[in-house]
Amino acid sequence: MSSNQLDKKSEAWSALFSEPMSELVKRYTASVFFDKRLWQADVTGSRAHAEMLAAQGIISADDRAAIERGLAQVSSEIEAGTFDWQLDLEDVHLNIEARLTQLAGDAGKRLHTGRSRNDQVATDVRLWLRDEIDLISDLLGELQTALVDVAEKNVETIMPGFTHLQVAQPVSFAHHLLAYVEMFARDVERMDDVRRRTNRLPLGSAALAGTTYPLDRERVARSLGMVNANGEPQVSQNSLDGVSDRDFAIEFTAAASLCMVHISRLSEELILWMSQNFNFLKIADRFTTGSSIMPQKKNPDVPELARGKTGRVVGHLVALITLMKGQPLAYNKDNQEDKEPLFDTVDTLKDTLRIFAEMVGGQLNPQTGQKEGGITVNAQAMEDAAKKGYATATDLADYLVKKGLPFRDAHETVAHAVKAATTHNCDLSELPLNVLQGFNASIEKDVYECLSLRGSLNARNTVGGTAPAQVVIQIARHRSRLG
Ligand code: ARG
Repeated sequence: MSSNQLDKKSEAWSALFSEPMSELVKRYTASVFFDKRLWQADVTGSRAHAEMLAAQGIISADDRAAIERGLAQVSSEIEAGTFDWQLDLEDVHLNIEARLTQLAGDAGKRLHTGRSRNDQVATDVRLWLRDEIDLISDLLGELQTALVDVAEKNVETIMPGFTHLQVAQPVSFAHHLLAYVEMFARDVERMDDVRRRTNRLPLGSAALAGTTYPLDRERVARSLGMVNANGEPQVSQNSLDGVSDRDFAIEFTAAASLCMVHISRLSEELILWMSQNFNFLKIADRFTTGSSIMPQKKNPDVPELARGKTGRVVGHLVALITLMKGQPLAYNKDNQEDKEPLFDTVDTLKDTLRIFAEMVGGQLNPQTGQKEGGITVNAQAMEDAAKKGYATATDLADYLVKKGLPFRDAHETVAHAVKAATTHNCDLSELPLNVLQGFNASIEKDVYECLSLRGSLNARNTVGGTAPAQVVIQIARHRSRLG
């Protein structure tokens, strides 16, 4: 390279190239307009690399200091929005290195010693994703807290539990919400697990085969916080694998897809519950939109979009896993295509979690210190709906079993009782005692306790059951877990 500057991409390669790249190819191969969001990770990785190069005597202390100064200047230019991102320089790595070289001269050129863009980009994406995973786990915590807040107020709120979307058995609304808390808690576990495998250092793999310089990779891992729970540095153990596999990004997108699927299920329920036919609850107006033609409408756009965006994230998973398939070792340019699906997955998931935490739990009012504007529950409508579908039929069967009937016979007897109630257009609990005794003589007055919704709920008092006594235990467990 003849000048101190690395202004053109063709100059970044070597004198070997006899013609410049066409404009179309430049645009086709460039990634800078999306991968510039990795700039912080790129600078952080370069700092750690330069520090290690100096500690190992591979570059001088002066060169390292010049690199430090140069990278600080680069960072402030990027932050201030004055950095001149150039398509000609293809990606975030070459853009930063070129500017550094303008600022630090030969020292800037020495930064790339013992390093390749292949291990550099693999490191940058891992560093970036690790921090995003932490933010996502925090947001998952906030959403769980919002659900637990609403659950706490609704332990005694009875709604129909469904199977096949048919009224099945009464459940506590809190119990229903806590089912989602379980799902989101597992999403956090998955994120933690992905984080462990993401937080490993490929830098030092160089282009594909390792490097001839005496690098201290563990030192770099330590300074980047790429350590395990015992504080031991986590360094990739095979250079070919280190530069080429993007399984961590695929795993992350799979975990994100599952999380979005959980959000999507919740969305579907919110949409149903808000419809006039259910009328179980309302979400605050700011999460809904009106119709341009039907003045009475309030549409649940936010949950609907979340349900739709789930398809988008699952699409990114398919894109990434297909991207990896068929790539021979080691690095291939195909991998540049990992960025946009990964970035969009992170953005979509974070926005969705943020909006759901607020839509469910409300916004903090700094004056009162209370959260306001979360979902409003219509407990009466829920209870009325639970009364409609003979939700305590199983309780009557269980009652008969306790009187000595085999379960199958009890099941049959109750079917007759339900038929009679349907004919009289009343609930099982509204059938007179003598009518019930007509189905089985062992039925006594205490049957009405088990035919009531509340009696049915209280009876399910085993771990994981819907009895309020159990639900309260679960709320306390979640509270102490969530802090
Ligand atoms: N922009 C590239 C990417 O995202 C950086 C690595 C390029 N390496 C190469 N040998 N062309 O993967």
